Amino acid sequence: MNDKELVAHQALQYVSENMIVGLCTGSTANCFIDALAKRNKEEKLNIKVVSSSVVSMIQAKETGLQVLAMEQIKEIDLYVDGADEITSDLTLLKGRGYDLVREKLLARAAKKFIVIADESKIVKNIGDNFPIPSEVHPFAWELVKNILMKKGTGDIRINAGKDGYAITSCGNFVLDFNFPEKNTEKLNTLLSITPGIVEHGIFYNLAHGALVSQNGRVREIWRS
Ligand code: A5P
Repeated sequence: MNDKELVAHQALQYVSENMIVGLCTGSTANCFIDALAKRNKEEKLNIKVVSSSVVSMIQAKETGLQVLAMEQIKEIDLYVDGADEITSDLTLLKGRGYDLVREKLLARAAKKFIVIADESKIVKNIGDNFPIPSEVHPFAWELVKNILMKKGTGDIRINAGKDGYAITSCGNFVLDFNFPEKNTEKLNTLLSITPGIVEHGIFYNLAHGALVSQNGRVREIWRS
């Protein structure tokens, strides 16, 4: 079992009968979905899931999990997701994918939100390894970029084919920015109050715990 599979299996211990579980996006997340589907089938747990992306929804359906639409839920029992960066106080950077809005909604709706990752995701400050993504209304991106340029440097995200702008699952553009400011609370506030930003990649005060693997071992970090 590799490190990603290891944390995915460890997260299963927080799953119990009749739960609604929020499904994650990413390679670590994929391991969790497969492991969850297997356990659900074997132990007849009657788990229902809600997905943070079309990709995880398709994977969940293919593995036989019962998928709910986001419109059908008011809260969920458990959300398990990966992250691009994790600090010691459990602030996360997410959004390398294209599903920030759904991911943060599920994180906020969850009674318990557990992050699964390998040790490479642990950082001192948010933004150490990746720029911070902000999902913006297409008509607002130049206005928002102009505001953010006063605080940092960055640009609109280009798509994988390098022939257009990247478009999120909600039909928006993404601005990826680096900021000299390292205080996550201040950055979280700046991005949260900037008009035109639909959602951003700083997950502040949302995760309850993290399962982090390295060389076949898992360490747990919990919010105090
Ligand atoms: C999705 O928007 C991202 O935040 C992912 O959760 C993140 O990129 C983790 O993916 P991996 O598990 O593939 O590293």
